[in-house]
This record gives sequence, C-alpha cells and structure tokens, in this order.
Amino acid sequence: MWDYSEKVKDHFFHPRNVGEIQDADAVGDVGNLACGDAIRLTLKLDNDRIVDAKFKTFGCGSAIAAASALTEMVKGKTVEEAEKLTNQDIADYLDGLPDEKMHCSVMGQEALEAAIANYRGYEKAPSEEGTIICKCFDVTDKVIERVIRENNLGSIEQVTNYTKAGGGCKSCHPDIQQIINDIRGPAVAVAPEPKPVKKMSNIKKMQLVQETIEKEIRPVLTSGGDDVELEDIDGDTVYVSFQGNCIHNATSKEKVRHTVEAKLRELVTEDLVVEEAT
Ligand code: FES
Repeated sequence: MWDYSEKVKDHFFHPRNVGEIQDADAVGDVGNLACGDAIRLTLKLDNDRIVDAKFKTFGCGSAIAAASALTEMVKGKTVEEAEKLTNQDIADYLDGLPDEKMHCSVMGQEALEAAIANYRGYEKAPSEEGTIICKCFDVTDKVIERVIRENNLGSIEQVTNYTKAGGGCKSCHPDIQQIINDIRGPAVAVAPEPKPVKKMSNIKKMQLVQETIEKEIRPVLTSGGDDVELEDIDGDTVYVSFQGNCIHNATSKEKVRHTVEAKLRELVTEDLVVEEAT
C-alpha cells in the first residue's frame, strides 16, 4: 500500500473548506467522473485577493487532501500570487504524495487555473487547451508538456502518475514518449522501471476486485448512468458485463472498460485486464 504522510492523512480525515461558495466570484471545474476524479473549486475575491475558498471533490483520499490543501494555500493570496502555485507546491504542503498519486496535485493546480480563468472571463483554462493525446483520460499535449517540464519527468510511467495519461489502453504511449523526447531529448528518456510483481492469491485477488468494484467503481459509474457486473476472473483477466447507458454505444463501453481497468490496476494489481464477458 502507499505511504501517506501524516499531513495527507490529516487533510483526508479532516478536510478543510469543504463545500461550495454560493455567490462565488470564480468557479473551477476539472476532472471527469468517468475517470473517477473531479474537483469543483469556488473562490470569493475582494479586490483581486482570495478571501475564501471551498471545494467539492469526487476522488480518492489524496484528491481530497490535495483539494483541501489547495484551499488553505490560496486563501489570503492575490490572484497573481495564487497562479504561481504549482502542483509540486501542493504536494510539498502535504509533505509529499506517493508517486502514483501525484495526479491529484496536478488536478488541484488545474482546478485553480480553471477558477482563475473563470474569474478573468476566459472561456478555457490553459490546461484545457491543446490536442488530446490520451483519449482514455482526456489528457492534452499541453498538460503532459507542462508536468514534464515542471516536475522534471523522464518516463511514461511518471507521466501516468502525474496525469493518468497512458494508464488505460496504452495506445497513447508512443505519443507520450515523443513528447518526452522532444522536451528532454531521447538520451534522457528513461525506460520505466519494471515494478515488482505483487504476490497475491487468487482468492485475495477476487475479494479485492469485488470490493473495489462495489466501493470505488460502482458509485462513480452509476452517477453517470452506467454500471458493470463482475462475471468472472480468469488469472489476471476480469470479465464484466456492461449495464446502463453505455450498452448502446461501443465508445461509451470502451470508456467504462478503461475506467474499470484503470481503477482495478490502481487498487488491486497493475497486471489486471478487463474484458467484456461473452
Ligand atoms: S489513449 Fe491513453 S491510455 Fe488509452
């Protein structure tokens, strides 16, 4: 399991500034329920100074902690000061985040960017611009480029940790590698370190898959009108049947499949593959 700092645990169990400012001067929405993470940040400003900040999030403990930390960090800052905050500042405020959870700090930074863009009357935050590189998680080249530069990343695995891009079907991996090469040069592009295979009995794996679907995946899917039923597990292949809106559309089914697979890989074991039961 991941090693969380005391500060992450504190902000997860006692999140600050939860809720939504009704007469907010700035609203920043980021994330996607289909991907399992979303943040809404609302700000109240007085003469360009942020006097109040609240958040709502649907995500893991690190997403809650990152959003809570962000609201504490921006209160009292001017917009110009706030927009200089980076995802690394959010992670540092929390005494660090596990590598696999750095995308939560990036999502916090994007929520702030979106709120500031909204305050200034722009239609889009800078992070929403660009070309989609990872279709599974709707991540653009601009976001990937920025996290590589700001966090000094050199491998696809790191990019996935920071943005989720590349964490599904992997078809975007060549494009991500190309962006890394363009920024860092091919010589410094580091091949992902193979992770030690987790030893897990089949019974434990089945229990964990079932639990993860019930507690972590189903609430997200059903909120968007979709659902899956666990049908069978054979080795590392998890067979599911699709239910709800997605059954009418192959693209929606594929998106749901990616969501389930990514969450199971995150919370059970990274070797799992999700397929539709026939
Ligand atoms: S397109 Fe990026 S993981 Fe599927």
